[in-house]
Amino acid sequence: MIKIDNLTKKFGAHISLDNVSCEFNKNESIALMGANGAGKTTLIRSILGYYHPDEGSVAINGLDPIKHRINVLQEISFVPQLPPPIKLNIDELIQYISISANVDKEKIMHYANEMKLDLKANLNKSFFKLSGGMKQKLLIAISLAKKSTIIIYDEPTANLDPKARDDFYRLLKQNEEEKVLLFVTHRLEEVKDLVNRQIYMDLGKVVSDEKI
Ligand SMILES: Nc1ncnc2c1ncn2[C@@H]1O[C@H](COP(=O)(O)OP(=O)(O)OP(=O)(O)O)[C@@H](O)[C@H]1O
Ligand SMILES: [Mg+2]
Repeated sequence: MIKIDNLTKKFGAHISLDNVSCEFNKNESIALMGANGAGKTTLIRSILGYYHPDEGSVAINGLDPIKHRINVLQEISFVPQLPPPIKLNIDELIQYISISANVDKEKIMHYANEMKLDLKANLNKSFFKLSGGMKQKLLIAISLAKKSTIIIYDEPTANLDPKARDDFYRLLKQNEEEKVLLFVTHRLEEVKDLVNRQIYMDLGKVVSDEKI
């Protein structure tokens, strides 16, 4: 489903991805690990078509994520490492997402509720005024409500309290549809029950890749 071929991404003289090749296929749940600055987020942004490769290519179900951005993003649920600076209030944001990405509002409400995020009390609040954990909970609720064949999480639990982490992992385990799950984490023990492949990156390269 995701095919990365000899991908190199540089920022100035710095090589963030150094000739990376790998494939992620249906029914794979991957823990993507590695030190700060290893290139994990750069890899994910390349998959999402945010970055133009210097060399090599990315294909999502055969499509280039830059040329076919809309089609590719329709297939993907994504929670970023840092929440985007959205000025819309929660009501407007949910409305926007339900229309633009065809996500059922009631499902967003349902998953927010499961994550112990009280949306009804915050509908008039701007997204950027929510606490870090509340933002993350809402983005997670949206990602779960959007039925996607590719799910990408970039350290989604960093701002969550322990109870919210448990809730999140419980909800993820319930989703047994055929999909690819790519999960960036620094805590393998948290995702052990969830993943069947682990990849380590260092200095822009994949240094180990094994099924578990
Ligand atoms: N937009 C950018 N402009 C310049 N340099 C960048 C940019 N994005 C990433 N880099 C550089 O690329 C390298 C890899 O960064 P990346 O964010 O991919 O690391 P990471 O593995 O996700 O780390 P972390 O665990 O801290 O999130 C770093 O040296 C970073 O400074
Ligand atoms: Mg990162």
